[in-house]
Amino acid sequence: MTIFKGRPVSLLGSGIYVPEKVLTNYDLEKMVDTSDEWIRTRTGIVERRIAAEDQVTSDLAYLAAVEALKSASMSPEEIDMVIVATNTPDTIFPSVAAKVQGRLEAINAGASDIQSGCTSSVYALSFAAAGIASSIWDKVLVIGAEVLTKLLNWEDRATCVLFGDGAGAMVLGVSPDGKNNVISTSLKSDGTKSDLIILPGGLVECPASVEMIQKKLHTIHMKGSEVFKFVNKVLPLFLEQFCEESDLSLDDVTWWIFHQANYRIIESVLRRLDVPVERAILNIDKYGNTSAASVFLAFHEALVDGKVKKGDKVIFVSFGSGMTYGATLMEI
Ligand code: UT7
Repeated sequence: MTIFKGRPVSLLGSGIYVPEKVLTNYDLEKMVDTSDEWIRTRTGIVERRIAAEDQVTSDLAYLAAVEALKSASMSPEEIDMVIVATNTPDTIFPSVAAKVQGRLEAINAGASDIQSGCTSSVYALSFAAAGIASSIWDKVLVIGAEVLTKLLNWEDRATCVLFGDGAGAMVLGVSPDGKNNVISTSLKSDGTKSDLIILPGGLVECPASVEMIQKKLHTIHMKGSEVFKFVNKVLPLFLEQFCEESDLSLDDVTWWIFHQANYRIIESVLRRLDVPVERAILNIDKYGNTSAASVFLAFHEALVDGKVKKGDKVIFVSFGSGMTYGATLMEI
């Protein structure tokens, strides 16, 4: 089933944090054999944020969480669960969520990370809403946070120009007035394509060794054009079915909040659905691909800018390593 049943779930607040340092396409021209023109026309990216040397993912996650709690007028003790969507945890364990929970002094909360590629955002949102709808939790802090730039091979132009750092958070809770904001969700995976986006080194399959580091296996590797083709093939039909199962026509969707991986992907998926690209929220130009943080960043900025308004029907869509993909419909 796609539609949430049980208690109505409200969006109670949101917030973001992005590091101060900006790296432009022109900066990258001095680092690898690339050009502003190539990056801009192939991806839509103009600049991205880079975490400071001493900043880790839990720092970004914490700062976004503080903003989201502030906007929800909520104290950390009220939170029952902290869920962090990330593919770039500070360490494999402890989780980023546990560190954030500790730092916030969210003394009544559990904590867990979700790692499902860039789709972790939509997975985390869905798990949080499911936990609230089914009465397990009353209030959940959901965060998408990434420091991808510390896991890039800065000599590989095919990947290093794409990614950036950032974090976004939402507070979801059982609705105080019966209004349901989280309507439906669908989460998918095609694990036969697990070789398309990988970070192979440093763990069980390929433990740390000098050879592993020399081969740069501790950095992100991506078969970019195969990902591009996979997403274009799978997403249009998936989104059509998702809308149908959510009792919604494509025209009824006010805003599409896609994972900001590539402007051309967003444009071509929407074209296949016969939806104008003007209905997509876009901020890839400013932040690049921030993986599990991207839909949170795009949503919060659109809300603050007054683009997304009360009553709007917003579909969050993501895709990434796995290959996973998914969508969640919210009515704001
Ligand atoms: O967040 C997870 C999901 N990830 C994605 O959604 C990424 C999906 N894939 C993409 O967005 C695109 O495939 C890329 C942006 C990664 C690449 O764009 P493309 O149009 O598929 O380019 P390509 O990989 O087919 O490469 C075209 C050419 C190649 O040169 P030749 O072989 O035609 O001479 C590349 O070597 O572009 C070259 N190239 C570059 N040139 C300048 C690749 N990277 C660069 C670069 N600067 N940074």
